[in-house]
Amino acid sequence: MQLTPVLSRYWDEPRSWTLETYVRHEGYQGLRTALTLAPDDVIQTVKDAGLRGRGGAGFPTGLKWSFIPQGQDGQGDTKPHYLVVNADESEPGTCKDMPLMMATPHALVEGIIIASYAIRAHRAYIYVRGEVVPVLRRLQTAVEEAYEAGYLGKDILGSGFDLDVVVHAGAGAYICGEETALLDSLEGRRGQPRLRPPFPAVEGLYASPTVVNNVESIASVPSIMLNGIDWFRSMGSEKSPGFTLYSLSGHVRKPGQYEAPLGITLRELLGYAGGVRIGHQLKFWTPGGSSTPILTDQHLDIPLDYEGVSAAGSMLGTKALQIFDETTCVVRAVLGWSEFYAHESCGKCTPCREGTYWLVQILRRLESGRGTDADLDKLLDISDNIFGRAFCALGDGAVSPIVSSIQYFRDEYLEHFRSGGCPFDPHRSTLMAGVQQI
Ligand SMILES: Cc1cc2nc3c(=O)[nH]c(=O)nc-3n(C[C@H](O)[C@H](O)[C@H](O)COP(=O)(O)O)c2cc1C
Ligand code: SF4
Repeated sequence: MQLTPVLSRYWDEPRSWTLETYVRHEGYQGLRTALTLAPDDVIQTVKDAGLRGRGGAGFPTGLKWSFIPQGQDGQGDTKPHYLVVNADESEPGTCKDMPLMMATPHALVEGIIIASYAIRAHRAYIYVRGEVVPVLRRLQTAVEEAYEAGYLGKDILGSGFDLDVVVHAGAGAYICGEETALLDSLEGRRGQPRLRPPFPAVEGLYASPTVVNNVESIASVPSIMLNGIDWFRSMGSEKSPGFTLYSLSGHVRKPGQYEAPLGITLRELLGYAGGVRIGHQLKFWTPGGSSTPILTDQHLDIPLDYEGVSAAGSMLGTKALQIFDETTCVVRAVLGWSEFYAHESCGKCTPCREGTYWLVQILRRLESGRGTDADLDKLLDISDNIFGRAFCALGDGAVSPIVSSIQYFRDEYLEHFRSGGCPFDPHRSTLMAGVQQI
């Protein structure tokens, strides 16, 4: 399968982020097309194209937009509507939205205007992870440029449509990427997930109808408006159409963003990325960030689309392909992720708050060679008590790497406590020799 750079097609051009460069590459032409259509027809176009949310769950974007009450403003639908862009991107391994916003922030701004027009919102927010100050600055500059050029503000391009966009900095919490925690945080509260229903489409930001979409989902919309449904559907599969950003990191020769049709395989992507680093072999990988169950070299040829990855027992997630070669200790990698989830657990529900803490204690014991058979059973038992029982998807994500790594690498866990240490620790043989002398 060929790479299909759409979002990333001129990322390496000098000053790719300016309005001038964007307009030179047909920027804001999709908006002009959208504004000639009725809002409902824009929604139908995105629905028919089959765009699925790129934030992890793959929910159909047009369908989500259609859940917003679509009455004309003031006609039985008096509450304001909001569009909120989820630019929190904090999952380990996930690194596509930040480069997108750095390289072509106007693709996001144009997508925001089209989406807001479609759902009849006059105010949109971009909720950006607080630590990424350069991205915040770049977005703010792009929004200012768009106001000056008449793409934002009153009567956009003479259409009569008004829109204001606010760039909001979060404070750097993974849970604020969960859409309802994000809304609480945006309202000035502590970011913790909300009980659903009501869903954000009914009562979201300030108890008003709200669409929350990922950066890449929204930035993909202008090209659909410009090139049409058939063009988008000419890539990918029937159920997972279109192109997407795959982020390769870890033990690959050329890590980075590879934009390709949904359904490409890891074997093909590794071909573009120069393969696993020289002299080494693939051991395990994540298809979509650390919260998706790990896969192994048996899965090199599965189609990387929503259906293909789920049939292999994992999830496409954010398409963050973290590659680990045979020098990596799977127990140590899983311990690192588990420490992240325990740290980021918001504490609202007991299974996750307590469970993630205990998972880390046991994994530390196992990794250092002090564990027992019973510890492995305990890990699986605690995981079982979190999965499907936690208040939000962070809990499920926290146990995914643990359960899947035991499924594929049980022997490696056993080897740790049988040999009294990590078999991958380069200092271990020296240490053991020292212990024997004493
Ligand atoms: C703990 C947690 C963190 C999340 N972080 C993000 C994130 O950083 N960015 C994102 O777009 N979605 C994130 N999500 C998913 C969002 O809740 C939501 O599904 C997504 O923003 C919807 O956008 P989409 O339909 O365009 O995919 C997270 C979910 C959970 C449970
Ligand atoms: S699963 Fe974890 S992060 Fe989600 S609400 Fe419960 S404690 Fe908070």
